[in-house]
Amino acid sequence: MKSKIVYQCTNCGATFPRWVGKCPNCGEWNTLEEVFVSEEEKRKKSRGKTQTSSLVPINAIQVQEYFRFPTNIKEVDRVLGGGLLPSSIILFSGEPGIGKSTLMLQILDSIDTESIYVSGEESPEQIKLRAERIGIKSNKIFVTNDSQLETITTLIEQHSANIIVIDSIQAVYSAEIPSPPGSVFQVRNATNQLMEISKKQDKIIILVGHINKEGNIAGPKVLEHIVDAVLMLEGEKNSNIRMLRALKNRFGSTLEIGLFEMCGNGLIELTDPNKIFISQSSIKSSGTTFSAVVEGARCLIIEIQSLVSPSSYGVPQRNVNGYDFKRLQMILAVLDKKLGLNIRQNDIFVNITGGMFIYDTGLDLAIASSLVSSLNDFVIPYEIGIIGEIGLTGEVRAVSSIEKRVNEMEKLGFKRIILPRRSESDFSAKRKKHLLFVEKISEAFDIIFHL
Ligand code: TYD
Ligand code: MG
Repeated sequence: MKSKIVYQCTNCGATFPRWVGKCPNCGEWNTLEEVFVSEEEKRKKSRGKTQTSSLVPINAIQVQEYFRFPTNIKEVDRVLGGGLLPSSIILFSGEPGIGKSTLMLQILDSIDTESIYVSGEESPEQIKLRAERIGIKSNKIFVTNDSQLETITTLIEQHSANIIVIDSIQAVYSAEIPSPPGSVFQVRNATNQLMEISKKQDKIIILVGHINKEGNIAGPKVLEHIVDAVLMLEGEKNSNIRMLRALKNRFGSTLEIGLFEMCGNGLIELTDPNKIFISQSSIKSSGTTFSAVVEGARCLIIEIQSLVSPSSYGVPQRNVNGYDFKRLQMILAVLDKKLGLNIRQNDIFVNITGGMFIYDTGLDLAIASSLVSSLNDFVIPYEIGIIGEIGLTGEVRAVSSIEKRVNEMEKLGFKRIILPRRSESDFSAKRKKHLLFVEKISEAFDIIFHL
């Protein structure tokens, strides 16, 4: 049989006919190695298997109602859409130290079925110490710290456990692949093999994955396409608040979030988050505004704090916690150009209190107001709520679920609420009394700063 030499990247597994210093696929240096591929094998691969298939009319396909395993942690089930589905594979990611292993153990403790916890990063003693700290009671969790793929797959195949957590997928390696653990090649291979077992034996497999510097799930973005759901645990530095989001969910919505607080004995569910997001101390200072954002079925009241002060260096400083930096730059540009405020040469700090990252542009107008409040050292009365997105021409644009936001603000005692003119028709005349509809930012500022 004739053999041919190709060059394969030990990091991502891509093959090339010629050797190059830098892998054109993943950009790693010096990772290409010679491998022999027989001509016959190559031809077989390119031909693929010949199988007969049949076509089914789309409306004749029967949809099965699947049983889900509720995790019995309300905030997790909310994000999952009710629980874990058999034969699904989930990627659970987050930065190191955010609380992934903690939440995994808590889920395995409260779910009512046998599970295997594969920890390639910690010894059984370390796992036990964490388990004691969070008060694990279940006797249905089986632990191993093996990290060789072949041993893990055998364990899974032979055990009756329904749920398997691999903590982390970057620590798992196959002895048959020369690349180091954590490389794209290893991670992808392990995921594919685990996926096969999951589908064949109806197992739920959760892969814990670290995030790299760029915020990607370390190594392969490709994993996101293979798995059924991608969950992410997030939190700002210096805050105990943790958010669980679904970036992808084949079996449910991606809009819901789960909220937790990291305490001395694990993650505690936050059932009344608004208490946390509003810090009572800052109510009477300039630079503070309040708004409402919608995350799935839940509406949260958000407090924004800004500090605008003359810059002592040539290049003014910018720092934003909990909101998109580019969005802040846009708001500043609009305030500068459309309202003639000389705000951009100042140092600017913006903070969403409570340590949550908000993606909702309905916060724009409240951020702009908070900046101007700090710039002019003007205290906005506590009972004013501000909702609206800012457009490039200085207009206040409508946002989704406006009624829900207004209801929540009213519930918390906000007496006057500023909101986009376009939403006026959504409210009855009786309710409109304390709602102030605006079309432009300048109108909003006229109301807020000339009360
Ligand atoms: P961990 O779950 O190990 O994070 P990850 O698996 O994402 O790397 O959690 C690490 C941090 O959480 C660590 O800094 C200690 C803290 N922690 C608590 O505050 N309370 C607890 O009950 C536990 C178990 C951890
Ligand atoms: Mg961990």
